[in-house]
Amino acid sequence: MPRSLNFLTLLGVAGLSASTYASATHNNSFDLKPFKIDLAGEVPRLLDLVRNTRLPAQALYPDVPDKGIALDFLRELRTDWLDSFNWEAQQAELNQFTQFTAVMEGQTVHFVHEKSADPDAIPVILLHGWPGSFHEFSPVIKPLTQSWQAATGKNVSYNVVVPSLPGFVFSSAPPSKWTLDDTARIYNTLMTEVLGYPTYAIHGTDLGCVVAYSLYSSFNATVRAGHFVFIPFYPPSAQEIAANNISLSDVQKVAEQRFIEWSTTGNGYSVEQTNKPNDIGLALYDNPVGQLAWIAGNIKLWSDPRAGTPPSVLDKTAILTSISLYSLTHTFLSSAWIYAQNPTSFRSVYTKAATDAPMLFSQYKYSVGMHPKEYVAKVGNLVSYKEHDFGGHFAGLDNPPSLIEDIREMGLYFKA
Ligand SMILES: *[C@@H]1O[C@H](CO)[C@@H](O)[C@H](O)[C@H]1NC(C)=O
Ligand SMILES: *[C@@H]1O[C@H](CO)[C@@H](O)[C@H](O)[C@H]1NC(C)=O
Ligand SMILES: *[C@@H]1O[C@H](CO)[C@@H](O)[C@H](O)[C@H]1NC(C)=O
Ligand SMILES: *[C@@H]1O[C@H](CO)[C@@H](O)[C@H](O)[C@H]1NC(C)=O
Repeated sequence: MPRSLNFLTLLGVAGLSASTYASATHNNSFDLKPFKIDLAGEVPRLLDLVRNTRLPAQALYPDVPDKGIALDFLRELRTDWLDSFNWEAQQAELNQFTQFTAVMEGQTVHFVHEKSADPDAIPVILLHGWPGSFHEFSPVIKPLTQSWQAATGKNVSYNVVVPSLPGFVFSSAPPSKWTLDDTARIYNTLMTEVLGYPTYAIHGTDLGCVVAYSLYSSFNATVRAGHFVFIPFYPPSAQEIAANNISLSDVQKVAEQRFIEWSTTGNGYSVEQTNKPNDIGLALYDNPVGQLAWIAGNIKLWSDPRAGTPPSVLDKTAILTSISLYSLTHTFLSSAWIYAQNPTSFRSVYTKAATDAPMLFSQYKYSVGMHPKEYVAKVGNLVSYKEHDFGGHFAGLDNPPSLIEDIREMGLYFKA
C-alpha cells in the first residue's frame, strides 16, 4: 500500500474529492493529523479551583444597577459548574465533529472538517472571534452539511470547516506580531492547499469577521461568497446616520442602542486587552471563576435577552462550555492577546474590497454593532441584507436556525 494511501486510511477520511486526495498525497508538509479533545484529566483540578474560589455573600451595592456582571448570575454559573455541568458530556458532543490539526507557517491550527455526502457541496469556513471558539458553531455544523433545496430547485449543502483562532483552545499561540491578516493567509492555505478546495465560501462574526473580510478582500480568486454578521468597519454614529437621512428599522434601532452602550460603557475589556493583555491574562491565567466573571457578563450583554429559550441555545451550559474550553486549555492569556496584536482591526473609513464575490449580511437585533445596509454596500458586492428580530452577537448559539438559513442562502450566490 502506498504510504500516502495508508496515511489517508489512518485518518479515517472517507469520500475525499480528487483535489483533497491530491493535496494530501502530494504535499504532506502540513502535518495533517486527526484530533480528539481529551481534557477530562484536567477537570478535577479545575473544579477544585472553582470550589475554592470565594464570592461575596451579597452584592456590595444592591441599591444601584450592576456595573459589570451581576453577582447572582456569577454565583448561579459557579454553582452549576460544580453541581450539574458535565464536561465529559460536552466533550463527547464536540468530539462528534471530525477534527484535525495542521501546521501552516509554523502555526498548529485546530479545525473541524465535516463533509457533506453531496459531491457538489460547497466548502465553507466559519470564523469565530473573542470570547468565542469553534464551539459557538456547534448547532449549525451538521445541518449545513445536509442538502437543502431552495424554491428554485437548486440544492445547497456544505463541507464545513471551523478553525480555532491562533492562540485559542487547541491552536498554538502565534508569534507576538501575528495579525488577523496573517491568520487569514494561513486559513486560505488551509482551505486551498491542506484541504484542496480551489474555491470556498466564508462566514465571520466578531473578530472572525476581520479574518473573513481579510479573506474576502485579499483572496478574490479563492473566496467566492461571504456571509457576515459584523464587518470590520466602525459602525456609524447616530448623528452620522441621521445626517445621511438613513431611517432605521426597529431591529436597527435596538442594535444601534446596543452599540452606543458598548462604545460608552461596554468596551473596557477591549481597551484593557489592547493595552495590557498580560495584566488580565496573567491575573486570570489559572482562575476559572475569574475568567467567568470577565467573560460571562459580556456574553449575556451581547446576546438576546431571551437567550437560552428557543431558538437560542445560549444557556448556562453553553457559557460554561465556552469558559471551560479556555480554562482547561490554559489559553485565556493567549486569546486575550488578540486585541493587543490587532489594535486597529476595525476601520473608520469605508472602502470597497477588490472582488466581485457576492456578500451577504445579517443584522441581529441584539448584536453590539449596527451596520445599515447603505454602509455595508460600501465595502463589498452586497447582494442580500437581512434583519433578525431574535438573536445577538453569537448567532450560531443565539439563533442557529436563522444562521443556517442565511448561510444556505449564500450557496445560491456562490460562484465557484
Ligand atoms: C508543500 O507546501 C509547503 C508550504 O506551502 C511548500 O513550502 C512546499 O514547497 C510544498 N512542497 C511541494 C512538494 O509542493
Ligand atoms: C436535490 O436533492 C434531491 C434529494 O437529494 C434530489 O432528489 C434532487 O434531484 C436534487 N435537485 C437538483 C436540482 O440537483
Ligand atoms: C438629507 O435630507 C435633507 C433634507 O431633505 C437634505 O437637505 C440633505 O441634503 C440630505 N442629506 C443627504 C446626505 O442626502
Ligand atoms: C482581484 O484583486 C486583484 C488585485 O487587487 C484585482 O486586480 C482584480 O481585479 C480582482 N478581481 C476581481 C474579480 O475583482
